Amino acid sequence: MAAEKSKILVIGGTGYIGKFVVEASAKAGHPTFALVRESTLADPVKGQLVESFKNSGGVTLVHGDLNDHESLVKAIKQVDVVISTVGNMQIPDQTKIIAAIKEAGNVKRFFPSEFGTDVDRQSAVEPASSAFVGKKQIRRAIEGEGIPFTYVACNCFAGYFLPTLVQPGATAPPRDKVTILGDGNAKVVFNEEHDIGTYTIKAVDDPTTLNKILYIKPLKNTCSFNELVSLWEKKIGKSLDKTYVPGEQVLKLIQESGFPINLILAINHSIFVNGDLTNFEIEPSFGVEASELYPDVKYTTIEEYLDRFV
Ligand SMILES: NC(=O)c1ccc[n+]([C@@H]2O[C@H](COP(=O)([O-])OP(=O)(O)OC[C@H]3O[C@@H](n4cnc5c(N)ncnc54)[C@H](OP(=O)(O)O)[C@@H]3O)[C@@H](O)[C@H]2O)c1
Repeated sequence: MAAEKSKILVIGGTGYIGKFVVEASAKAGHPTFALVRESTLADPVKGQLVESFKNSGGVTLVHGDLNDHESLVKAIKQVDVVISTVGNMQIPDQTKIIAAIKEAGNVKRFFPSEFGTDVDRQSAVEPASSAFVGKKQIRRAIEGEGIPFTYVACNCFAGYFLPTLVQPGATAPPRDKVTILGDGNAKVVFNEEHDIGTYTIKAVDDPTTLNKILYIKPLKNTCSFNELVSLWEKKIGKSLDKTYVPGEQVLKLIQESGFPINLILAINHSIFVNGDLTNFEIEPSFGVEASELYPDVKYTTIEEYLDRFV
């Protein structure tokens, strides 16, 4: 008989990526719990999202806050697995989730808020490197406490990068000229958000992903910036004027820019100039790749994603 599906608590389920994780969890038939701040219910947009969780049938709302220890312990005691999708500003506060998991004592797996670069294998400059330090410290705290974990390194959210082809200030992909950071040859990975939710939930009850990094790096979603531009050019039947910004110039721009432009540029420098998403081998000792593990998932390819904008 198949084992019962784990009960999952999502902390940060009303966030950008969190809502896809909540949706994927309920869709996969996991009893799903979303920790929601009471104040958020009054927000017109988020209140509606929470309402849609309730109406989907599979999601139980629990009121709570990262800063309310009792609320965390109470929520965590009801489930088997905790997935945090809290935002960048709350990364250090996840020590509070770790403390609550320790006290509750029943958690089979914790997925901290990662959902990007493998922070232990990157060469980002400031201010991105400081942002990644927070995630590294959370990893070390989890490992130090002996909490079973999976870190989801899902690489770039498609919705953040592809609708503009990474052109600052743009609202649509370029049709005349395009700016490319570095030489455009570093391999990069873009994944559609529903797929990130689906792969994350697939990993929950999978012993293969226990204490491992789950990389979401499907073959068809891995390409260089130059390849991405050619794909787009083919779709619109037109070639674009290309301006390449050498790495040293990107570094200079980072130093000259204020927040948050400098942070975005530093992340993009790590991804597009240094090639930090792909310049290492995934070794079985620390990681597994999602599309290899779960070939049944029909993920959205970059090629399909770009069709939305033609
Ligand atoms: N790979 C990529 O391209 C990419 C891009 C962006 C982000 N990321 C990563 O994805 C992860 C999630 O980021 P995001 O942008 O999706 O997050 P987000 O939209 O900022 O959402 C943050 C979530 O945390 C909740 N939260 C905030 N403070 C809380 C508190 N005190 N108690 C309980 N919940 C609280 C928010 O609840 P409310 O709704 O109540 O505010 C919301 O649900 C981060 O690790 C980030 O670095 C990756």
